[in-house]
Amino acid sequence: EVVTKMTLRINGQPRTVQAEPRVTLLDALRERLDLTGTKKGCDHGQCGACTVFIDGQRVNSCLTLAVMVQDKEITTIEGLAKGDTLHPMQEAFLKHDGFQCGYCTPGQIMSGVACVKEGHAKTDSQCRKWMSGNLCRCGAYANILAAVREVAD
Ligand code: FES
Repeated sequence: EVVTKMTLRINGQPRTVQAEPRVTLLDALRERLDLTGTKKGCDHGQCGACTVFIDGQRVNSCLTLAVMVQDKEITTIEGLAKGDTLHPMQEAFLKHDGFQCGYCTPGQIMSGVACVKEGHAKTDSQCRKWMSGNLCRCGAYANILAAVREVAD
């Protein structure tokens, strides 16, 4: 199978990856670049665990081919904190216990950041709707909502 050399711009850094054109952004991040904060839940666009930003827009990285996003700015959960300073959404998840097992948390936090940035966090119902693509098997939804709403207020 053809292996392509691609350069991805991730969290402000250019990263080179050797991968087949069929490799998803999710697999490129996790398996080729050791950026394992982005999680694989379903690998079919159903759970939101793999949420990242591409040019500031929320996307499911399991539905995105790495080769297609070479000229884009990719942000993962590893890119949110500034040095030792957590992003306000990360702080809010800690404060409100917005997780139990933690597996869905990176995706929830990325979606939460997008929710606030794009103005969908003004009411509980707006926020729930925006976050509805991010599943939590533990059922920590009430605390996740509280965290996102706090950052919005
Ligand atoms: Fe991408 Fe579930 S792993 S949506």
